Amino acid sequence: MLPHPPLTEHYPSTDAKPAFVNHLFDAGARYYDGVVDWGFLRSGSFYRRWVQQRHGLKPGMHVLDVACGTGLVAVEAAKILGAAENITCLDPSEGMLAVAREKLPAKFVVGRAEALPFSDGTFDFLTMGYALRHVTDLETTFREYHRVLRPGGKALILEVTKPSGRLANFFFRVYFGRVYPALTQLFTRSRDARDMMRYYWETMDACVPPETVLAALRAAGFGEVERTKMIGLFSEYSALKPR
Ligand SMILES: C[S@@+](CC[C@H](N)C(=O)[O-])C[C@H]1O[C@@H](n2cnc3c(N)ncnc32)[C@H](O)[C@@H]1O
Repeated sequence: MLPHPPLTEHYPSTDAKPAFVNHLFDAGARYYDGVVDWGFLRSGSFYRRWVQQRHGLKPGMHVLDVACGTGLVAVEAAKILGAAENITCLDPSEGMLAVAREKLPAKFVVGRAEALPFSDGTFDFLTMGYALRHVTDLETTFREYHRVLRPGGKALILEVTKPSGRLANFFFRVYFGRVYPALTQLFTRSRDARDMMRYYWETMDACVPPETVLAALRAAGFGEVERTKMIGLFSEYSALKPR
């Protein structure tokens, strides 16, 4: 199951998507933190810490942060754990990983969510922040999450989801589709940064509905699959690997 249909104005087919996405994030890496900081009204650090606390992250756990990017989720996990030594950060973009490596002494691995280079049952807690739209297949990805978690381990997937109400949807489209990419280019003077945020919007707009994500998690073998909505915009997908 694709997270969204191929966006053929950028790449011809899903086979070509990873190379396109990788180039996008490599080129935009140096701008990412600044752009998402003001774009989400400086709420990012607080929210990324709070959501992991609410979903049960505790000191002593072994954590895998898939699609770690510049490390925004992992940095907040390290604050909760009290150290970064039990955190593994994975991302296919060397550019994003280079920024993350400067921030915390976690383990860093180049790789993709669809083929995790870890043994079965390695982690207690797996996070993925704002990257589900970039994988090539939801079920393959979730089967990998299920495999690398120990029995009783939890997957927590964060996403931005288009609101369903007409007015909220209108403001969402105007902000993420037009205002955010335009302001990104104005502030950074970088087309790479603008293109990264434009693609951010295009994938949110094309993304499958939450019910499809929940069904794919169940199909991968997870139990207690839930979606928690936050201010009608943020989706927190959580799922437990049965004991
Ligand atoms: C929008 S950034 C999210 C970064 C960070 N998790 C956060 O909370 O801000 C998306 C990240 O997903 C990564 N990514 C793209 N395709 C991926 C894949 N197939 N598997 C894992 N990560 C992927 C990108 O390289 C990029 O760093």
